[in-house]
Amino acid sequence: MEKLKVVLVGCGDRACVYAEEGVHKLEQMEIVAAVDPDEVRLQYVREHFGVAEAMCFRDQNQLLARGKIADCVINGTMDKLHLQTAVPFLEQGYDMLLEKPLVNNKKDLLLLYDTAKAHGCKLMTCHVLRYTPFYRKIKELILGGEIGEIVNICTDERVGAFHSSVSYIRGKWKSEKESGSSLLLAKCCHDIDLLCWLNAAAPPAQVFSYGGRDFFIPEKAPNGAGTRCLVDCPEDVRKQCIYDVQSMYLDNCLLPWYPWQCTGKDYHDVTMEEKIESLKTYNPHGVCAYKAGGDIADHQNVAIHFKNGSTAVHSLTLGCMKAGRSIFISGTRGEIEGKVEDGFFCLRKYDRKTSTYTEQRFDFKDRKGETGGHFGGDRGLVADFCGIMLGSKPSVSYTSIENSITGHLLVYAADESMKSDSPVDL
Ligand SMILES: NC(=O)c1ccc[n+]([C@@H]2O[C@H](COP(=O)([O-])OP(=O)(O)OC[C@H]3O[C@@H](n4cnc5c(N)ncnc54)[C@H](O)[C@@H]3O)[C@@H](O)[C@H]2O)c1
Repeated sequence: MEKLKVVLVGCGDRACVYAEEGVHKLEQMEIVAAVDPDEVRLQYVREHFGVAEAMCFRDQNQLLARGKIADCVINGTMDKLHLQTAVPFLEQGYDMLLEKPLVNNKKDLLLLYDTAKAHGCKLMTCHVLRYTPFYRKIKELILGGEIGEIVNICTDERVGAFHSSVSYIRGKWKSEKESGSSLLLAKCCHDIDLLCWLNAAAPPAQVFSYGGRDFFIPEKAPNGAGTRCLVDCPEDVRKQCIYDVQSMYLDNCLLPWYPWQCTGKDYHDVTMEEKIESLKTYNPHGVCAYKAGGDIADHQNVAIHFKNGSTAVHSLTLGCMKAGRSIFISGTRGEIEGKVEDGFFCLRKYDRKTSTYTEQRFDFKDRKGETGGHFGGDRGLVADFCGIMLGSKPSVSYTSIENSITGHLLVYAADESMKSDSPVDL
């Protein structure tokens, strides 16, 4: 079978997840070159994807100097680098799978769009949730008219305490200045995209958002808390604190690739002594969660008014005990309700016999990620990308840049609304 020749730009966690799906699971990709300033990551792609040493580059210009050597790029650089690492490859005619959020402002979004159009490139966003069987089935039911016209959608994302800490309180997305993304853009541009995709009958007209950083602040630290858990925080305070590093990072550590990245080693190879030493000294995850210096919101609500009168609300909260995403869609002829982590949703319709309702349950097998990350969304995205590149028709979930612009603009407007404390028209 013909395989896509792919260049990885930014060989971190996400790019390697997609490469793993494309190369080893779907067997439709061959990684022919890689760019990353970090030698540890380049070694990883050499070992896992067989990239030749001579085709591993520390700087994208070294690769760009060779002209177009592959069909496409998977760009998994951090948020702030997306524009500068995407545009030069698009200008050489590379099609691209680019991580979300595409960019953090309207001007750069249009530049990205114009560049892709001018050079005839397919540019797809990694909105993986659209590709989960769960949300995809919901989309198909809506398209099939099962619930009539959408009246209102309520979604929420509850970010668990560990995930909040490792990414948004102490981690690499804790500061909009550093990462380039607000909390809503980094965490829920997926969810806002879903709202626009599911409620595609009309574009959004106005958004209002409130929230902010009110809880992970120094004033809310436990009484007597220090500045680094393992250095100057008293034992009795630590025992009461959810964010004490002993339980969170040393005893458990649910997403180990994040907190040990700063050691410069593959996380599998970091010893307990090195972990403890890093948390005591330079590791940002060793700092008190309330004093970690983040500047993004820790909770945010978004209310959207669409042009046809329908509405949507999305609620995002850090530090939750039971993490998850839920959805409730109210239509003129029925409703849909579920939580992706539960592995099922229900479609309810009016029951003339009882004047209550009938309920049909849709179950999804994958509750533990057996079909790849994001409940099968990662694999679905890569499969669609490969299919489109090899000439197939795009799926209903297709996340071309055209399809992703509205969601991004809505996130920018919601953040503007939260900061200005007033509604913003789109
Ligand atoms: N789709 C999703 O659900 C999802 C989930 C998590 C993260 N993300 C997004 O994926 C992107 C990557 O996140 P990650 O956690 O994989 O990050 P990461 O830090 O693991 O990977 C980024 C890689 O880029 C490399 N890099 C830095 N500068 C570079 C440059 N100039 N050129 C090329 N490479 C460079 C880094 O060395 C690193 O290996 C981010 O934009 C993030 O927001 C998306």
